[in-house]
Amino acid sequence: MTDPKAPQSKAPQSKPTPSTPKPDLSSEASLVGTVQLLWPYIWPKDRADLRMRAAGALALLFVAKFITIAVPYSFKWATDALTPGVVSQDNFYWIAGPVALTVLYGVLRSFMALFTQARDALFAAVSMNAVRHLADEVFVHLHQLSLRFHLERKTGGLTRVLERGRTAIEQIVRLSMLTGIPTVVEFALILGVFFYQFDWRYALTVVAMIVAYLWFTTLATNWRMAIRRSMNESDSDANTKAIDSLLNYETVKYFGAEDREAERYDMAMARYERLSVGSYVSLAVLNSGQAVIFTIGLTIIMVMCINGIRAGTNTIGDFVLINAMMIQLYQPLNFMGMLYREVKQAIVDIEIMFKILRQNPEIKDTPDATPLVISAGAVHFEDVHFSYDPQRAILKGVSFQVPAGKTVAIVGPSGAGKSTISRLMFRFYEPQSGRITIDGQDIRNVEQRTLRDQIGMVPQDTVLFNDTIAYNIRYGRWEATEEEVHEAARLAQIDGFIRMAPGGYDAQVGERGLKLSGGEKQRVAIARTILKGPPILVLDEATSALDSFTEREIQLALDRVSQGRTTLVIAHRLSTVVNADEILVLDKGVIVERGRHEELLERGGVYAALWNRQREVDAAQDTLRRAAEEEGQSVRVGLEV
Ligand SMILES: Nc1ncnc2c1ncn2[C@@H]1O[C@H](COP(=O)(O)OP(=O)(O)OP(=O)(O)O)[C@@H](O)[C@H]1O
Ligand SMILES: [Mg+2]
Repeated sequence: MTDPKAPQSKAPQSKPTPSTPKPDLSSEASLVGTVQLLWPYIWPKDRADLRMRAAGALALLFVAKFITIAVPYSFKWATDALTPGVVSQDNFYWIAGPVALTVLYGVLRSFMALFTQARDALFAAVSMNAVRHLADEVFVHLHQLSLRFHLERKTGGLTRVLERGRTAIEQIVRLSMLTGIPTVVEFALILGVFFYQFDWRYALTVVAMIVAYLWFTTLATNWRMAIRRSMNESDSDANTKAIDSLLNYETVKYFGAEDREAERYDMAMARYERLSVGSYVSLAVLNSGQAVIFTIGLTIIMVMCINGIRAGTNTIGDFVLINAMMIQLYQPLNFMGMLYREVKQAIVDIEIMFKILRQNPEIKDTPDATPLVISAGAVHFEDVHFSYDPQRAILKGVSFQVPAGKTVAIVGPSGAGKSTISRLMFRFYEPQSGRITIDGQDIRNVEQRTLRDQIGMVPQDTVLFNDTIAYNIRYGRWEATEEEVHEAARLAQIDGFIRMAPGGYDAQVGERGLKLSGGEKQRVAIARTILKGPPILVLDEATSALDSFTEREIQLALDRVSQGRTTLVIAHRLSTVVNADEILVLDKGVIVERGRHEELLERGGVYAALWNRQREVDAAQDTLRRAAEEEGQSVRVGLEV
């Protein structure tokens, strides 16, 4: 799928292509190919019951089709039984009688409907099972794909791909099995009847009509497909614009940009409007063309039959039969247009979904990956070079060690690459050169799951699940007891807030945790990492969103948690790292200074300058706090640095 709104910041050719060669899917996907892809899901090897159902549905299909052909016959017999010239004392019509034949007609019609519905009901379990399994597979795969993939895709777009793919599978399985095959069977049977009951000229006329019909349908449908594709694109476009705008609700208000947003949305909708109208017009063209071709065929055949009646070779019943049969043919023929259209669309949607399934994760376990074995938990960066984009190096030969159980802090200006170091350690990305080891094991050669199990991460921006606070804390260790959850909350200094929140631990945090303040979210993130209790900790600005009072409290908690754990702290606020065993000053991807707090102060370099500036801010903050205390107000004055 081509994503028209891929990140604009990069030229297309500069986009890294880390995922191993993708199969070329630009060529048109075929029905056969798609059915091949879907076959294992329609005919599941491990589900005898579903295979029985599929076979049963197929059997019912044939029965229903034979009855379908018998229906116009019973109509013909009833008509002939009512036609004076045809009835005589000793023939079929006299013995059966028009009433009985009409009842037969009704019974057959009911059976036709019953069998068709039974077949659909029987098959539903098969198709829905296929839908569920494929959707599950894609979902699991989406989680395996790398962070890069997810950052470059719009989540709304991805869920729509999943949604469309799901509908498409349902469509294609149902359409091809429940409409395509039955229709072909019905064509064959009807042709047989025309040949047998009338003669070859009738059969030929029907064939000519069907060919013309299908030819026109294919042409018109292809033309329509292009319109519909742009229409769908414009629909997703309008949708992503709406989602993005609503996600940025607050930003829109900050800049009073409601009108601009409305205009942007309206522009997308205007395109959708135009293309939708085009789509309806083209549908009208398709439908009228189909109706005209069919009616011409029908009229010719009926005129041929009238000639037959005049010549005495056909009865009035034949006239009725031929009309009923043709009208009956109309429905499946009409389906054919729809079938072609929908199947083609479904193939495209399924292909998009399978394309994602085929996309190889950027970060994969090597075939001989072993579980990470932690003996002490020493982390070692050895001359690590890394860039997100080939044009711009982010880390330029970073080397450092976090000895087991020690704390190393990374400080430095924004954009220096601090968070990047934590992402590399967690193996969201792979360094271009150099290596990262934990207790001597290159993290490239260990199983990702075991690596991530051993690292606790408090990220810079915490996003929470749209569930309760308890759910979000428990996420750290699913099997933790309630007491452990409460204890973790207490350690992270969030329990006071929780007690005050209506609903307590069961309070909902809102989408992405938007109902919590930045500091509260961060404390929830700390609580769940405390609960996870891993041997290695990465704290990315773990206290940046807190006022200095709470920060000190949390700092104590974090100090306690990091006791005996290998800890990498990334911090803006230098006061939080004075006790670190080593402080690295990172600037533009290079470590420019390193040492303990006192050593760095003595040196009088970048660190000392940063420190002095922050001291001033902290002093101002303290003065403010004291003033507030004197007035008996809350002590929590936040002054972010
Ligand atoms: N996914 C990405 N793709 C491309 N560039 C990125 C990506 N993530 C980060 N960068 C760039 O890499 C650089 C380093 O980012 P990083 O997040 O490591 O900075 P940082 O030191 O943590 O800064 P801060 O203190 O503001 O958090 C930044 O200039 C950023 O724009
Ligand atoms: Mg950062």
